[in-house]
Amino acid sequence: QRLEMELESIEKGGYEHFMLKEIYEQPRSILDSMRGRLVAESNHMMMSGVREYENKFANADRIIIVACGTSWHAGLVAEYLIEDLARIPVEVEYASEFRYRNPIITEKDIVVAISQSGETADTLAALELAKSKGATIFGICNVVGSSIARATDAGAYTHAGPEIGVASTKAFTAQVTVLTLIAMILGTKRGTLETTKLHQLMAELESIPAKVEKALKLDNQIVEISEIFKDATNFLYLGRGYNFPVALEGALKLKEISYIHAEGYPAAEMKHGPIALIDEQMPVVVIATKDSSYDKIVSNVQEVKARKGKVIAIVTEGDTTIPSMADYVIEIPETSEHLMPLLSVIPLQLLSYHIAVMRGCNVDQPRNLAKSVTVE
Ligand code: G6P
Repeated sequence: QRLEMELESIEKGGYEHFMLKEIYEQPRSILDSMRGRLVAESNHMMMSGVREYENKFANADRIIIVACGTSWHAGLVAEYLIEDLARIPVEVEYASEFRYRNPIITEKDIVVAISQSGETADTLAALELAKSKGATIFGICNVVGSSIARATDAGAYTHAGPEIGVASTKAFTAQVTVLTLIAMILGTKRGTLETTKLHQLMAELESIPAKVEKALKLDNQIVEISEIFKDATNFLYLGRGYNFPVALEGALKLKEISYIHAEGYPAAEMKHGPIALIDEQMPVVVIATKDSSYDKIVSNVQEVKARKGKVIAIVTEGDTTIPSMADYVIEIPETSEHLMPLLSVIPLQLLSYHIAVMRGCNVDQPRNLAKSVTVE
């Protein structure tokens, strides 16, 4: 027993929980997921799994992404990336729904299964179904040799290293990193991504680990904000564009480990329902970084403030407009909007972590949840 406890504490590498360790590993795990696949200096990009099926990918009628949980959120980010950079239509499906609804799948479709564990039963069944209809199956898994990895035609591993905490953190950013590279490779192949933009994105992506490192320094500030909101019973998370899936992921993290009810919403949909919930008790986390939807999200923040909601805003360093309206401001480094989820998710992971710790929750093993769901 004592030996086991000591072993676990060694594995946690000085951190109180695996989740915190894994959050802090992200500069490294993101780098590992692009190592050998991207060298910006020489404008080099290479993924062997994609190369093998490059023509099929580039000529696909459609890319269908199937996944569950946090991996599904990474899939949503990929939808924005692939449609924008490579101009291929993308659908993102909950594996559990896809497999039972008699979906239309053809041989010209590529089905991408995203799974940290590579063992999720619904995701595995969804890809088997797509395979039986003749689609090409591409896998993005973290666990080498896992069932999903073995069932695919080709794939790319995320190199996040073992993820122990039940709530996924570093696997998400590794998935988004790999999916970004795929979108860039496909955009290049299809001629939809112009060279100057490509080179900018390559350089930006390479600078992401250092910027994640910087975002992690926000930890003390996030502890203070967590202290203020730890007893809230509801949270709303809002984002637009690339930050919409991040809003979903932020809300999921909070639900999973702190048991606070949280909803993620595309900010503009707020007026179709959630706005009715807003009063002075309601913390609203708004991801409002400088991007193409910035002006729109400014109005959404005004709408929340007009109803006395408490706004916790994630903004780009140097922004002055949103900070003049928000109650609490968290500044993250600037980057291309395509890569922003890799940075904007970091403070949300930390916020959920600290709130859960303050509420005395079992962060690494939340009640009722399993790391990999191998049954339906
Ligand atoms: C479970 C885990 C989540 C995970 C989801 C999908 O619900 O608790 O953290 O996102 O399964 O898992 P996968 O291994 O397929 O990514």
